Amino acid sequence: MNKLFAANWKMHKTTAEARQSASELVGLVSGKLKAGREVMILPPFTALAPVVEALRGSAGFLVGAQNVYPQKQGAFTGEVSPGMLLDAGASFVLTGHSERRHVLGETDDLVGTKTAFGLESGLGVILCVGEKLGERKAGELKAVLERQIRAGLRDVPKDTPPARLVLAYEPVWAIGTGEVASPKDILEAHAFVRHMLAEIFGPSGSELRILYGGSVKPDNASEIIALDNVDGVLVGGASLKADEFSRIVLA
Ligand code: PGA
Repeated sequence: MNKLFAANWKMHKTTAEARQSASELVGLVSGKLKAGREVMILPPFTALAPVVEALRGSAGFLVGAQNVYPQKQGAFTGEVSPGMLLDAGASFVLTGHSERRHVLGETDDLVGTKTAFGLESGLGVILCVGEKLGERKAGELKAVLERQIRAGLRDVPKDTPPARLVLAYEPVWAIGTGEVASPKDILEAHAFVRHMLAEIFGPSGSELRILYGGSVKPDNASEIIALDNVDGVLVGGASLKADEFSRIVLA
């Protein structure tokens, strides 16, 4: 399975800025991307179409959305359905990002519903999990990961194609803080996520990709990517500048 380098732009960039960044990234990366790697840009909803347009025809590039509502359509003011995302050209969506859980108040239950509905609707899903600093200090890392993974995958069919479901381990204390998890922390958490996937999916659990996220930068990317059970990275801050992100993708 290809290693995945995902750029989570969060609530940044106008349509013009998004188009410009995506085109610049293609220019910097095209022809240099190592075999077995793919790149995904996750812009805000309003910039999906310009990013899709900027990436058209570029092999190895995908577009994802940052959020989705688990209904086909209806009276859900402010929400966007899987069909709308597919229509805009997105093929993936993030679920369970820590900012959705801890700033917007999404529950494990809602994350599970979104994950299953997204997959059922034809999107690929990147399910994010991760502990808060207090939880880690209290020795609750595995308990938190197990709870979030079981709830997140509760209704996901066991025969889901491995390419369409990705897990992302993002310790909340490492997101946007500049404090990256140590290789030992990453190895331990990813091994546990892998163990959970094997328990839930059986042999195909070994094929699902597990991304690391949290203060990934050009100077730490290659070390992180080389770790066992790390199948890519989910990058926030360092993905906003095409030049900086290209150095991660090409690391
Ligand atoms: P960061 O964000 O790279 O800025 O720490 C990662 C994320 O939230 O996905």
